[in-house]
Amino acid sequence: MRKPIIAGNWKMNKTNAEAEKLIGELKPLVADAKCEVVICVPYTCIATAVKATAGSNIAVGAENVAWADAGAFTGEISAEMLKEIGTEYVIIGHSERRQMFGETDETVNKRTVQALKNGLKPIVCVGETLAERESGKTETVVKTQVKGGFDGISAADLKNVVVAYEPVWAIGTGKTATSEQAEETIKYIRSVFADLYGKSVADELRIQYGGSMNPKNASELMAQPDIDGGLIGGASLKAEDFAKVVKY
Ligand code: PGA
Repeated sequence: MRKPIIAGNWKMNKTNAEAEKLIGELKPLVADAKCEVVICVPYTCIATAVKATAGSNIAVGAENVAWADAGAFTGEISAEMLKEIGTEYVIIGHSERRQMFGETDETVNKRTVQALKNGLKPIVCVGETLAERESGKTETVVKTQVKGGFDGISAADLKNVVVAYEPVWAIGTGKTATSEQAEETIKYIRSVFADLYGKSVADELRIQYGGSMNPKNASELMAQPDIDGGLIGGASLKAEDFAKVVKY
């Protein structure tokens, strides 16, 4: 059985003072959650978030990680630095990074390998653009992203990975994929993993949906057999909204 996992992606939002307030409000609201609860926060908020969530059922993640151990990589943050301050998860290959910061399947792969090597749990994002969906390329696109992003990663390591299917056209647009569209593509993604790793490994892999998931649509999405969780942007910035998604 795959344990559902709902993760917030705060993106570039929240100062430390705001983070402390939000987590303080969130903790009691999600204390009895049945799913795994994660908040992925800006680097500057991680230490605050780890302290504020101590002893609770909320795990803390980063939003990216460097592919190298250390050295001349101005502006990057290493896996060791993240581990040292209590980071458990890390988002890799979010479409905003792919679109605005030159992230490719190759760099996604390098970052994922590095995260796993250092005991961080990657949440690896894949998803097609609107143009790709409309020209019937969704499956080709996600298959290429999975093959490239997971090149050389072992079945044993895959146990510590979460995949997030985020159609780019649904992110921050208020346009959610229908639960049928999300299920169809996530089921396809699982079949790609089954081809690469075998069915039993693919059956254990948790695959989230992301893209305008909110308190209104969460339960319908989560009712789909292949959808194991959500990666939540906008709706993770308010404690009540995020808690409602967590308790879909
Ligand atoms: P959204 O973002 O929920 O605001 O659409 C999801 C994401 O980008 O992870």
